[in-house]
Amino acid sequence: MVTLKEVPDIVSRMTLEEKARIVVGIGIPGMFGNPPPRVPGAAGETHPVERLGIPSAVLADGPAGLRINPRRENDDKTYHSTAFPVETMLASTWNRELLEAVGRCVGEEVREYGVDILLAPAMNIHRNPLCGRNFEYYSEDPLLTGEMAAAFVKGVQSQGVGACLKHFAANNQETNRFLIDTLVSERALREIYLKGFEIAVKKSKPWTVMSAYNKLNGEHCSQNEWLLTRVLRCDWGFEGFVMTDWFAKDDPVEMMRAGNDMIMPGKANQVDPSRKDEVEAIINAVREGRLNEETLIRNVKNILRVLVNTPSFKGYEYSNKPDLDAHARVAYEAGVEGVVLLKNDGALPVGKDAKIALFGTGQIETIKGGTGSGDTHPRYVISILDGMREKRLRIDEELAETHAKYLAEIRSRAEYRIEKTMFGEVFKPVPQDFLGEEEISRFAERNDVAIIVISRISGEGYDRKPEKGDFYLSDDERTLVERVSKAFHQHGKKVVALLNIGSPIEVASWRNMVDGILLTWQAGQETGRIVADIVSGERNPSGKLPTTFPMDYSDVPSWSFPGKPRENPQRVVYDEGIYVGYRYYDSFGVEPAYEFGFGLSYTSFEYRGLMVEVVNNRVIVSFEVENTGSLPGKEVAQVYVRAPKGRVDKPFQELKGFHKTRLLNPGEKEGIRVELDFDMLASYDGEKWVVEKGEYEVRVGSSSRDIRLVNRLIVS
Ligand code: BGC
Repeated sequence: MVTLKEVPDIVSRMTLEEKARIVVGIGIPGMFGNPPPRVPGAAGETHPVERLGIPSAVLADGPAGLRINPRRENDDKTYHSTAFPVETMLASTWNRELLEAVGRCVGEEVREYGVDILLAPAMNIHRNPLCGRNFEYYSEDPLLTGEMAAAFVKGVQSQGVGACLKHFAANNQETNRFLIDTLVSERALREIYLKGFEIAVKKSKPWTVMSAYNKLNGEHCSQNEWLLTRVLRCDWGFEGFVMTDWFAKDDPVEMMRAGNDMIMPGKANQVDPSRKDEVEAIINAVREGRLNEETLIRNVKNILRVLVNTPSFKGYEYSNKPDLDAHARVAYEAGVEGVVLLKNDGALPVGKDAKIALFGTGQIETIKGGTGSGDTHPRYVISILDGMREKRLRIDEELAETHAKYLAEIRSRAEYRIEKTMFGEVFKPVPQDFLGEEEISRFAERNDVAIIVISRISGEGYDRKPEKGDFYLSDDERTLVERVSKAFHQHGKKVVALLNIGSPIEVASWRNMVDGILLTWQAGQETGRIVADIVSGERNPSGKLPTTFPMDYSDVPSWSFPGKPRENPQRVVYDEGIYVGYRYYDSFGVEPAYEFGFGLSYTSFEYRGLMVEVVNNRVIVSFEVENTGSLPGKEVAQVYVRAPKGRVDKPFQELKGFHKTRLLNPGEKEGIRVELDFDMLASYDGEKWVVEKGEYEVRVGSSSRDIRLVNRLIVS
């Protein structure tokens, strides 16, 4: 067993070839003639050097839970992992302790299934609601992103395995992701696109970082020395190792120089014969004097200093039996706290005795998460329908049966067959307007409330579209909403829409037709149970939006998405600079459908007593929140700061802190204290961080547009 102390000695005994192997993965395990995988379904393995007692280490995705194959050849045991809510939903909890608890569960599964490093959290900024992988990312805001990631990483790494921050950096779209050149100002990078990574690096010391596929200001991220060495290591003090994203282009030698320590999965030439064998390329470059051997040694040491801590290096005997039941309970809690109540005109909760007419095929084909490397293979997924049945809600069974029959028939047609692709199962959306007005009216007569499920799925490799059926409702979905609303309203009954989606859709044009909107996101394996308990009122929603729901796609400030030329984008210019998400909507007076930080509750909260003081370079913000309603609930109190006009242009306000209360009973209060580093008031002026003098407004509230308390802070 190699220890940390022995790393320099071991490296000094390595041949050039052994060093070159350490910095390159073994290729996709079990494919293209590579050795059989140590853990089937894991994304990669590092090279062992048996002569020196160095074993291989195993790396596996991903952000919503460990992604490995649930079954193995000639083996009747199963290897399921827990499907947690997608990251956007985890961020909707705004609950650091919960994120840490989720991290601990995932970390235990990583360790007990023989994996060493989890390829998560993913933490790119929601620049545009159409990025196909937004569900894998937390938020449009860097502070929320960084805080959620840091908590998750702490949880994962407390289990003796590593986490990996990805994709570093400015990987905000899937279109042409391997080659797109992302042009961003240094200010927008430092304040928006890098900030979350900075927070997570400093607060949670991740073992690894994954560089992104895209180019950043002309240079591939994996070859970008400014990004990987100057910013990540010198400015932030990162001590782990950097790996490429899988098959990232382009030049292994440049990667080594830039401080991209490891090339994954290795053997790119196996999938694309025009590519180089990385090990050979590195050896040749050293021999020919094009790569300084010291650079290679630096990278090898960075890698080994991390790998010596892995279970594989320690010879850990894993059980293949993580506590899936305990983790299911955490997945359920995380989901409950991540549900966001967007609209409620007396529609919710429906109570336990209400007769419910459930519409939309998503009640059966419930989407647990997105596709691609962010997918998971859990023991089960509780659909919305089954969750309601299990919780004994009074579902109209005839209506449920009608949906089941319709789905069985339509999915048997070639056109709608569920496709299995390399990125997971693709469910072609089926028309939702298969029930006529009369039929719906019959269900309206005999039920108390209608719930309409609207689902979306997206994933790796493609972006969503600003079209009907994707960002907008399809015509058939709109017809369903119209027919159901008309029929139920005629009978004086309420209608609720359930959004089973991974990223915002347009709601403004149809929301007046319904009385309630519950954003249930893609909540993982427990989705149905979570939804049932929120709908019935067994649990009170406390999630808040980590990302804005715009009125219309034309309001979104990232006009250049996904780049130019339109047919085959090569370049994307982030002209909007720092004005991403609410920073744009608030500064330029654009009304969103639902603003950043928004989310209703079944109870109400009052804020009072805001005090702001500076103690030892820290800004202490204190206030009190009281539950003034009639049900127990939790509140997410948000602290925004509005900077004075100064040398650099400032957004209207920025999130600087937040706190989720404990469960407060009616009449109960919590005293809250949020501490901000003085540095958090700084903006990047293009060269350095500056805190401008003047009067800052500290704004505390229940959302970015529901500010309840304001106080001043003078910086002189
Ligand atoms: C994804 C990464 C993932 C890797 C390994 C890539 O396609 O972009 O997020 O970790 O594959 O599965």
